[in-house]
Amino acid sequence: MGEEQCMKTLIKNGTILTATSEYVADVAIEDEKIVMIGKELPGTFDKVVDAAGKYLMPGGVDNHSHFEALNSDGVTFNAGYETSYVAVLGGTTTVVDFASNDPGKSLVESIRYRIEERAKGKVVPDMALHALCTNFTDKTLQEIPQLVEMGIPTMKMFMAYKPTPMYMDDTKLLKTMQTAVNYGMTMMVHAENADVLNVLRDQYAEKGLLAPKYHYMTRPPYSESEAVQRAVLFAKATGCPLCVVHVSCMEAAEVIKEARKNGVAVIGETCPHYLVLDKHKMDHPDFDQACRWVCSPALRNKEDQEYLWDALKRNSISLVGSDHAAIPMYQKYWGKDDFRAIPNGSPGSGDRLNVLWTYGVVPGKISKQKLVEISATTPAKLCGIYPQKGAIEVGSDADVVIFDPDFKGTFSVETNPTGVEYNTYEGMEQIGRPETVFLRGNVVVENGKFVGELGSGRFVPGKPYGLAYDLL
Ligand code: URP
Ligand code: ZN
Ligand code: ZN
Repeated sequence: MGEEQCMKTLIKNGTILTATSEYVADVAIEDEKIVMIGKELPGTFDKVVDAAGKYLMPGGVDNHSHFEALNSDGVTFNAGYETSYVAVLGGTTTVVDFASNDPGKSLVESIRYRIEERAKGKVVPDMALHALCTNFTDKTLQEIPQLVEMGIPTMKMFMAYKPTPMYMDDTKLLKTMQTAVNYGMTMMVHAENADVLNVLRDQYAEKGLLAPKYHYMTRPPYSESEAVQRAVLFAKATGCPLCVVHVSCMEAAEVIKEARKNGVAVIGETCPHYLVLDKHKMDHPDFDQACRWVCSPALRNKEDQEYLWDALKRNSISLVGSDHAAIPMYQKYWGKDDFRAIPNGSPGSGDRLNVLWTYGVVPGKISKQKLVEISATTPAKLCGIYPQKGAIEVGSDADVVIFDPDFKGTFSVETNPTGVEYNTYEGMEQIGRPETVFLRGNVVVENGKFVGELGSGRFVPGKPYGLAYDLL
């Protein structure tokens, strides 16, 4: 991926936000790194940026993106790495993308190919990767040490999507966790009970109930909480650290809260859409509208949103990833006559920080420090890339967001692009925005506009044992 020219930059007078503090100081950047933080910093600088009245945050680390995904037949879907500039516009300087098995390739081969070919010259933010096992073979377990060695210390498995090859049954999940624990790899699960979903989906379809709203009616909270419970029991039995991604409802979050109380190494991620949107979005009579919010797990109720905000505040849910899956409308239309064929997912990497600020920090549901923790610091730790990423510290990469808390706007695909025709939060009020964004010392967003280049992103290898006990 790309190489950039660097210079000495001083960001003056900003209020630095970290996961634990808030203080006014200057930040000096040299050769892609933060080299000094303080007042009256010595030296001459090529560029001085005044950030008075603004916040400085570490560049966001989005723990959960699918910029370029393959379905089980190897067909590429989602909008592609060329559209990853949307992440930096939203203040995210590192995405952690999911790397699935390419057809006929092992995970190690697929990941090499993704770094060296698919993302090369295209990806804009820096990029770490989670392995996403979508084709379990005799080789999968043997590959785990190699994956860890190449900087991939996390692997996700789908407990849903039966009977496609993406679906991982309990045998595959348990065996993988038994092996992963020996190498410091964290297991991640998409937790939904595949059989429950299939029974309900088929029963609805047999009655001719095929509109998008039946997506949420056939994915009840118990299908999620049962799978979370099972994965947590496997984590307890094997000792393998577990991250339950995209937790959507109170029943599932409750399981994680209890397990954490009992000392199980489990961490929960939720997503902005589960914090601010509810399932009735899918009741819209126009397929064109309703299909946009078809994601899995499904959107839930207002009470779940309040529960999840509170769970973030109390540290029983620990981070917020976007689950960015920018599916173009023509692909959503594959399910025009049957909700079961609508590709799952909604875009959000560019909106994650803005949603957390507008609907979390502004009304006082979470503190500014909590925002930094759940959107930058904790994901960086989980993926083994902290403190290179997720921190404003001397020696960290100079990934810095100058955030303007006084900005007022409206989420829309024109002002908040997603890479596709729609924005998940279209029409909702926005307060605050990343005004300037530095990626390793280079300005990639200025006055809220993207000024960077395709291909500026580099692969960031992660270290194992990321889910250390200080995250619990
Ligand atoms: O609906 C979703 N979440 N789509 C993206 C893939 C996944 O399951 O994370
Ligand atoms: Zn998932
Ligand atoms: Zn996902």
